[in-house]
Amino acid sequence: MKSFDIKTKIYFGDNAIDRLRELPYKKIMIVTDKFFSGSSMLRIVTQPLSESNKEFRVFNDVVPDPPIDKIVVGVKAVLEYKPDCLIAVGGGSVIDSAKAIREFANRMHESKIALVAIPTTSGTGSEVTSFSVITDPIHHIKYPLVSDTMLPEEAILDEDLVKSVPPNVTADTGMDVLTHAIEAYTSINNNEFSAALAEKAIEICGAFLLRAYLDGNDWHARRKMHVASCLAGLAFNSASLGLNHGMAHQIGANFHIAHGRANAMLLPHIIEFNSGINIHSRSQKEYPKQVEKYVSIARLLGLQNFNTITTVRALVNWIQFMNKEMNIPLSISQMGNIPEMEYRSKIPQMAEAALADACTATNPKVPTKADVMRIYEELW
Ligand SMILES: NC(=O)c1ccc[n+]([C@@H]2O[C@H](COP(=O)([O-])OP(=O)(O)OC[C@H]3O[C@@H](n4cnc5c(N)ncnc54)[C@H](O)[C@@H]3O)[C@@H](O)[C@H]2O)c1
Ligand SMILES: [Fe+2]
Repeated sequence: MKSFDIKTKIYFGDNAIDRLRELPYKKIMIVTDKFFSGSSMLRIVTQPLSESNKEFRVFNDVVPDPPIDKIVVGVKAVLEYKPDCLIAVGGGSVIDSAKAIREFANRMHESKIALVAIPTTSGTGSEVTSFSVITDPIHHIKYPLVSDTMLPEEAILDEDLVKSVPPNVTADTGMDVLTHAIEAYTSINNNEFSAALAEKAIEICGAFLLRAYLDGNDWHARRKMHVASCLAGLAFNSASLGLNHGMAHQIGANFHIAHGRANAMLLPHIIEFNSGINIHSRSQKEYPKQVEKYVSIARLLGLQNFNTITTVRALVNWIQFMNKEMNIPLSISQMGNIPEMEYRSKIPQMAEAALADACTATNPKVPTKADVMRIYEELW
């Protein structure tokens, strides 16, 4: 038996932020990072709260790839202030932190603090997922915590909050959206509902990601990518992800490469591995099931080509083209700041952690440790 539900109520379109005036909560803790709390955009969130006589406090101690100790600091702040609602305003790191903070605070005190998520990047879709990715900095591991109790009650999508995102972050987070949609679409848990959401997200990435990268003030492209991020989040919340995320988490935890960038660099390699199609491939009588999925994705992007092999190759080429256009390196060596010996020495340990990562379990092809090590080697 399968089921599909969307627990988070999503506010979007013109004046979506006005929902803050109507919130049925009285004492609010805004969870954010120092970038947002120090920017003029903070007023976009605090003004409607002040004008509707809500009591609030700002907690801004969130950092990228949130480590466990920062979650503990957040839980202490919540237990001390005792809010009835958290409003998370920021990128995936902020929303994931708020989810984990709320979860632990609620469990410790049997409280029912609500969570409203307002994303300021178009990337993780965290505003509608039951995932929270927390980093263990001592053991260099990123853990996806998964629980439906972490789903925010409400999400507010306002593209005005994304316009300040610099091109490199637009590129990384946009490729995260595309990776979510592609992995959800090819996951062994995919279903008609998740597929519909993933297809729309892929189409939008094809039409609007480059536009948003080239002109951050292109509000139409920004709005589309903001919606695509949420659609892809809904898709993978239902279907889960795959090896791409399982491997990207380890690169992020070990070498502090931005999450979306790690995904973008891996994506061509993962499609080659999952499809069994590389530059040397010749046409075959039969292909694994996921190959048809990659062909459908290529079709959605307008890349349909001569036959199955050339179409999957066109998809891989298009992803590499997007990475090049948006200045995302194609390999770890191209990044220029990671010593080769250090990278290679960590491969066995990263491969084991990638196999144990919760995302890898739904990959369409079961990888061995040797497969994963080879992909990490090829990524150098
Ligand atoms: N929960 C999930 O379902 C899920 C899915 C994928 C990834 N993740 C996790 O989310 C995190 C990545 O999130 P992210 O990609 O959104 O990046 P992020 O939240 O780490 O933010 C990246 C940088 O962009 C800045 N930033 C955010 N909004 C901005 C704005 N409007 N203008 C200018 N700068 C802005 C931040 O201050 C930060 O320095 C990782 O920890 C990743 O593992 C979670
Ligand atoms: Fe992701």
